[in-house]
Amino acid sequence: MKIIILTIFFIYLFNFGQCITDPDQKLVMSDVLKQLYNVDSSIDPCTLQFTYCKTDNITNYQVILNVHLYFAPNNAQTLNQDFTKLLNLTFIRVVENIAFNSSFYDNLYKLTKLEYFDIHDLSVPISENVTLPDSLETVKFDKISVPLGQGWFKSIAQMQIFSASAGFSLPKELSNVNPLLQTLGLSVISNSSIPTNIPQSLPNLQQLVLNIYNDMDQDDYQNITISSKGVYKKLTDLEIYFYNDVNAQPILLDQILSNTPVLEYLNIDGLGYAINPLVGFLDLSYIKGKRDFFMDLGKFSNSFCQQCNGSCFKLPEYSGIYSYEWSYPFSCIDLRNLSSLEVYQNGYEQFLPNIDNALYIQLIIIQESIVVGDIPESYCKVELNLSDNQLDGTVPSCILCIGYLEASWVLPNPFSNFNSSSIPYCPGFLLDQNYTNLVATDGGYINITGKNLGWGNYNDYFTIIPNEKLAVRIGVGFGKNLQKTITLQNNQKVTLNFSYIPPTIKSYSIFELMNSKFFVLNGTGFNFKGENNVTINGIPITFSNSGGGSNSDNIIGFNFTQFPSLAIETQFTVSIDVGGQVSNQVTFYYFPSITITEKSLVLNSTGGSINITGSFITNNSSLISVSINGTKCSLISYTNSLFTISYPQFEVGDDYVLTLVVGGYAINLPVTYVQGPTPSPTQTSTSTPTPTPSPTSTSTPTPTPTKSQTPTSEPNDDGSLASNLSIPSCLLIILLITQQLI
Ligand SMILES: *[C@@H]1O[C@H](CO)[C@@H](O)[C@H](O)[C@H]1NC(C)=O
Ligand SMILES: *[C@@H]1O[C@H](CO)[C@@H](O)[C@H](O)[C@H]1NC(C)=O
Ligand SMILES: *[C@@H]1O[C@H](CO)[C@@H](O)[C@H](O)[C@H]1NC(C)=O
Ligand SMILES: *[C@@H]1O[C@H](CO)[C@@H](O)[C@H](O)[C@H]1NC(C)=O
Ligand SMILES: *[C@@H]1O[C@H](CO)[C@@H](O)[C@H](O)[C@H]1NC(C)=O
Ligand SMILES: *[C@@H]1O[C@H](CO)[C@@H](O)[C@H](O)[C@H]1NC(C)=O
Ligand SMILES: *[C@@H]1O[C@H](CO)[C@@H](O)[C@H](O)[C@H]1NC(C)=O
Ligand SMILES: *[C@@H]1O[C@H](CO)[C@@H](O)[C@H](O)[C@H]1NC(C)=O
Ligand SMILES: *[C@@H]1O[C@H](CO)[C@@H](O)[C@H](O)[C@H]1NC(C)=O
Ligand SMILES: *[C@@H]1O[C@H](CO)[C@@H](O)[C@H](O)[C@H]1NC(C)=O
Ligand SMILES: *[C@@H]1O[C@H](CO)[C@@H](O)[C@H](O)[C@H]1NC(C)=O
Ligand SMILES: *[C@@H]1O[C@H](CO)[C@@H](O)[C@H](O)[C@H]1NC(C)=O
Repeated sequence: MKIIILTIFFIYLFNFGQCITDPDQKLVMSDVLKQLYNVDSSIDPCTLQFTYCKTDNITNYQVILNVHLYFAPNNAQTLNQDFTKLLNLTFIRVVENIAFNSSFYDNLYKLTKLEYFDIHDLSVPISENVTLPDSLETVKFDKISVPLGQGWFKSIAQMQIFSASAGFSLPKELSNVNPLLQTLGLSVISNSSIPTNIPQSLPNLQQLVLNIYNDMDQDDYQNITISSKGVYKKLTDLEIYFYNDVNAQPILLDQILSNTPVLEYLNIDGLGYAINPLVGFLDLSYIKGKRDFFMDLGKFSNSFCQQCNGSCFKLPEYSGIYSYEWSYPFSCIDLRNLSSLEVYQNGYEQFLPNIDNALYIQLIIIQESIVVGDIPESYCKVELNLSDNQLDGTVPSCILCIGYLEASWVLPNPFSNFNSSSIPYCPGFLLDQNYTNLVATDGGYINITGKNLGWGNYNDYFTIIPNEKLAVRIGVGFGKNLQKTITLQNNQKVTLNFSYIPPTIKSYSIFELMNSKFFVLNGTGFNFKGENNVTINGIPITFSNSGGGSNSDNIIGFNFTQFPSLAIETQFTVSIDVGGQVSNQVTFYYFPSITITEKSLVLNSTGGSINITGSFITNNSSLISVSINGTKCSLISYTNSLFTISYPQFEVGDDYVLTLVVGGYAINLPVTYVQGPTPSPTQTSTSTPTPTPSPTSTSTPTPTPTKSQTPTSEPNDDGSLASNLSIPSCLLIILLITQQLI
């Protein structure tokens, strides 16, 4: 008690301010502090850390926003003060031994600013008609022993009840729909279950925690039934904790567990989970679409695993399981859908689980557990940590290969063929020679397969499937008949033979930028590291290094002043030699500039025809080809300033590209495919601002996105298209910079 008083004094000194506290509020709060902690009523409560106050800029008084009664008095105390005087209260938190009287709850609705209400005990009888202020978002009870009425659930966003005892109950059904409630923690005791219509009345519930007191040895214990109708559409986190000693009532939870289609995290702890005998196991494999489902196996695992023959639960594809300190046979888990298994201190004596059918398994951690026998060969393809077990059989060759230094994660264990002085020994090592030996000039990977390749991840390679498949990094370069040597985790040196992909020329174009013109070639396999040796009409010309794009789309260019002078529409030939690999020689027709008037096109997803205007210069329609994302469009009519194409159908989307090629001169245009009527392409459409939901609306149902995009909402305002069109100029800027560097 001395310490408490000293602390109060300390805080008092530090908090002392000059402002005057609202007299009405001061009176109430001083009285509370006097009753609980014997604080002298001359001390302004706003100077103590039991409150947080703020100056009202109209009255100039300090008003109390937060009340945090964080010392437990020695004896139980009931507060009878009139809290409705604390008009500005937003936050109440109260520790044990402090209770409010019934009238406090009757008047709770008058605290119209209250957002947070966290009290330790609720045991005074309260009206079933308690109404909460709309402002209240969070309610927490540590211990509750009286019924809660409907009013508690109508408008809050978060409700947590940690423990309950006789007298507590919840409504059998919730009478209102509350779309705000996302987090709900409930206690379940003998005689009190959960509302049966949670899915319908709390449609946005994301986290549900059930604290179930199912100790059948309690006085007057009556069996608990949990029934639930409907689908928990948004529930991602479900935690079920059973509290009991030994005589636990087994409880069926199938109705909840088989209706949580988007669950990501499930934790079941304690004794009490009952397998439905009609199903025979817990089947969660219906949960789809999420790759990160995770189950935390608790104390229940031993009792749970005794309830079925063979595996007791099947999880969704790519799930993870975690357990710490609980003992159960691995046969209880269906490993087929697991991607990770993490087990610590499992005291059940057994062999390592058989993973022959575990197609997704990538990680196995089993530590400090009573596993005995061998590490099977199948474990070579998984990331492992098997330290501190009692494995007394053999390790497979993949572990012998890398030796004790690299395989410290299987030690210590009393293996018969491996210990903390085993050096690498790898006669079974094999490298398949069928790897793809062509690499893009902007770098890439050579993926190699084999046996006993190890687990290593280094600068020059990384593991795709341990021991079976590695990706070797190859940097930017050019040329053929090259070699790359790496050292594997098993100390084997591996030399790979490869060549860079030879160059191909696809098209050309001419850009004007900063008062200079540039001739640009588009193709693949160009040199990214330095100059490119191009031959135009037999004349060697040095182009810049390749910039931008991936290997399927490289560009190189040079200052147009060097370009041989040619008449419009005359042919010229181009080829390129990259590190001794010579491209095709292509014949193009010379045009100083080709343009399209439209900045973008909006096309009908069912296909159709469209007019495109611009300056195409030639009258020879056979020089023209048009495609959209690689699919050719047929030319219906053509003049040198307008042509009509019929275009193919595509899915709705805004990332299509129309490519017009005139005698080798290529130009791109962004295309959006829409459903339904298409606006005329030349029309400048106005961008409609997205409607913002009214901020006053209390219910926030999630808006469902409309499937079909209407043309007016398409991003075809000038800004976004200009940026699309400017891609070539961006690349040219790269070229310019690199040219200047050379
Ligand atoms: C305190 O509450 C009163 C009554 O609602 C209000 O007029 C006043 O502005 C509030 N003061 C502050 C600082 O919130
Ligand atoms: C008074 O306080 C309110 C909210 O705290 C603030 O919006 C308002 O601007 C303040 N008025 C003055 C005159 O400072
Ligand atoms: C609660 O409200 C209902 C309907 O307004 C009324 O019939 C009932 O008597 C009230 N109960 C209490 C305990 O006030
Ligand atoms: C309560 O549950 C236990 C355990 O399942 C069972 O043995 C007992 O018969 C049940 N009692 C009643 C009244 O249903
Ligand atoms: C090489 O062949 C083996 C067996 O024929 C096959 O499993 C492996 O995937 C192949 N490797 C590559 C890199 O294609
Ligand atoms: C090689 O592995 C890398 C990295 O996993 C992958 O991105 C690439 O597609 C693979 N290449 C081939 C040819 O399989
Ligand atoms: C290069 O040509 C390809 C194929 O014609 C095309 O998809 C790509 O957009 C072109 N790149 C540039 C920058 O023009
Ligand atoms: C292109 O060459 C011309 C003539 O030599 C020169 O004036 C111009 O600055 C050059 N442009 C660039 C961007 O190098
Ligand atoms: C271009 O030609 C020069 C001179 O022959 C040569 O040194 C250089 O390696 C060639 N560059 C490429 C990428 O082939
Ligand atoms: C193309 O233009 C011609 C003449 O300007 C017009 O008759 C025709 O309807 C247009 N076609 C389309 C598909 O817009
Ligand atoms: C169309 O091609 C562009 C450019 O190559 C690409 O970014 C886009 O993803 C493609 N669109 C579709 C739907 O395949
Ligand atoms: C798009 O195609 C559909 C189906 O052919 C047609 O009903 C619709 O009118 C077309 N829209 C326009 C603007 O041509």
